[in-house]
Amino acid sequence: MDKRKLTVNGRTYEVAQADIDLSLLDYLRERLDLTGTKNGCGTGVCGACTVLVDGKAKRSCITKLSSVLGQEVLTIEGVAGEDGGLHPVQRAFVDAGAIQCGFCTPGMVLGAISLLQKNPKPSREEIRKGMNAHLCRCTGYQQIVDAIEIAAVELNREK
Ligand code: FES
Ligand code: FES
Repeated sequence: MDKRKLTVNGRTYEVAQADIDLSLLDYLRERLDLTGTKNGCGTGVCGACTVLVDGKAKRSCITKLSSVLGQEVLTIEGVAGEDGGLHPVQRAFVDAGAIQCGFCTPGMVLGAISLLQKNPKPSREEIRKGMNAHLCRCTGYQQIVDAIEIAAVELNREK
């Protein structure tokens, strides 16, 4: 494992020494131009900046780049299929009307992917609990829970 490298969405980057002290969020947005990951609160509260690091959901605003070197990061730009089609979780968010302004959506989608990897058949209550650290100012959350239920069915069908 090379400690000066970071793999993002399958592509490996050499991290400059000058960037080592950045947050993962700032590195993704400002150095790699991956602006799908959002900066909501910047303090680890809202979940908008959620990405997967070695498959685990992490808040990139409070994750130091130096702490994830050598690991694999998945951002919203990397979740689509190889054919460019939407990931089942993205498709379900669209179909369920779980997106309004969309600011929280990238973090929600990554959070939902992580949740469904851990628990492929969650109850509505488990979805609510699993997503309760993601804030949305628009939707009232019902459609987000609906979307994750739909995505669970679809992902289980694909297995
Ligand atoms: S921007 Fe990271 S948790 Fe809000
Ligand atoms: S859709 Fe607007 S913040 Fe969630």
